[in-house]
Amino acid sequence: MRNERILVTRSSLPPFEEYVEEIRSVFESHWLTNMGEKHRILEGELKRFLNAEHLCLFQNGHLALEMSLQAMGIQGEVITTPFTFASTTWAILRAGCKPVFCDIDPVNYTLDPEQVEARITERTTAILPVHVYGHLCNVEALKEIADRRHLKLIYDAAHAFGVRYRGKSAACFGDLSMYSFHATKVFHTIEGGAVTFRDPELEDRLFRIKNFGIQENVTYGVGGNAKMNEFEAAMGICNLRHLEEEIRRREQRYLRYMKWLRGIEGITVSEIPEETESNYAYFPVLFDAERFGESRDAVCERLNRNEIYPRKYFWPCTNAFDFQKEFRDPESGAPQFCPEETPIAARVSSQVLTLPIYASLPLEAVDKICTCILEGRRASG
Ligand SMILES: Cc1ncc(COP(=O)(O)O)c(C=O)c1O
Repeated sequence: MRNERILVTRSSLPPFEEYVEEIRSVFESHWLTNMGEKHRILEGELKRFLNAEHLCLFQNGHLALEMSLQAMGIQGEVITTPFTFASTTWAILRAGCKPVFCDIDPVNYTLDPEQVEARITERTTAILPVHVYGHLCNVEALKEIADRRHLKLIYDAAHAFGVRYRGKSAACFGDLSMYSFHATKVFHTIEGGAVTFRDPELEDRLFRIKNFGIQENVTYGVGGNAKMNEFEAAMGICNLRHLEEEIRRREQRYLRYMKWLRGIEGITVSEIPEETESNYAYFPVLFDAERFGESRDAVCERLNRNEIYPRKYFWPCTNAFDFQKEFRDPESGAPQFCPEETPIAARVSSQVLTLPIYASLPLEAVDKICTCILEGRRASG
């Protein structure tokens, strides 16, 4: 193995000729965006692949979520997890709602249903959990709460493309699920995203909101611009053909990591739960400084010195950014963001490193990364 920098991820690409062939008709038609042929084909293929009743493509996952909250008329308080990428929380805030943070399950790091109920008030309108790292939430318990309390259940499924539970894709759970097709994801369209949903009435509303409020030359209301273009849709059509191989190769890397790291004192790795097909999108590892003998930050620094760049993903939690410290709730005057309310999320966030994983990562690179991690333990022990 050459001594190259190993980054946390590397975007997959289809063969160059395959993509060029796919965009030939775009060059011929000069139809570059505005829901063209590639957009239509990709929507159909994704709908089938995800077993979605309805699906709408977007320019990215963030706008897909933000605009979906608006299109669904979500207002007031939204119960959510702080252990996620900032986008989830910002979508709630930018849609004019208040995020109410609830702690996570210590094993799979998703929203803990047992703690959701206590956060529901008369202002709560929705629950917005995240299938973080592609770990599916406790979908059954969350559905039971949402149904009983008449709340919308909206999933951030940005990490969960291709994940299945009891044979059902993540798109089959909740009222709506948002997928990100960002270049770093298991399946990507360079930039892109989609939502899958149940309510047929949302179809037109979502179309309009991503297209300036316009449909068939009639302006129905106020909207933004979040259309996926034809070059991105063409990339998605190509990448979908290679998805199976992409996931298979990621699984090999996952298994290699597990061989090295499973059962090591002070290290927690994520097992694939029963009846779940994973997409192996991420490889999160928690370091317990006392039991492992070294903190997450010390491990990360040594990896960086060896040209290996994992990510502290997600650190800090989305209720713990420095700039939020002064924010006060307009009504009560209490701190608006309070990381102490979600201690498990805070702990996981302080211990986690997501290690490099992608289809073209050489298996020897996994060996090198793990050797480097475990060297620290021996040195300190
Ligand atoms: C959990 C989560 N939600 C939302 C997003 C936003 O998706 P996008 O980058 O496609 O806007 C991401 C991003 O990558 C994410 O990781």
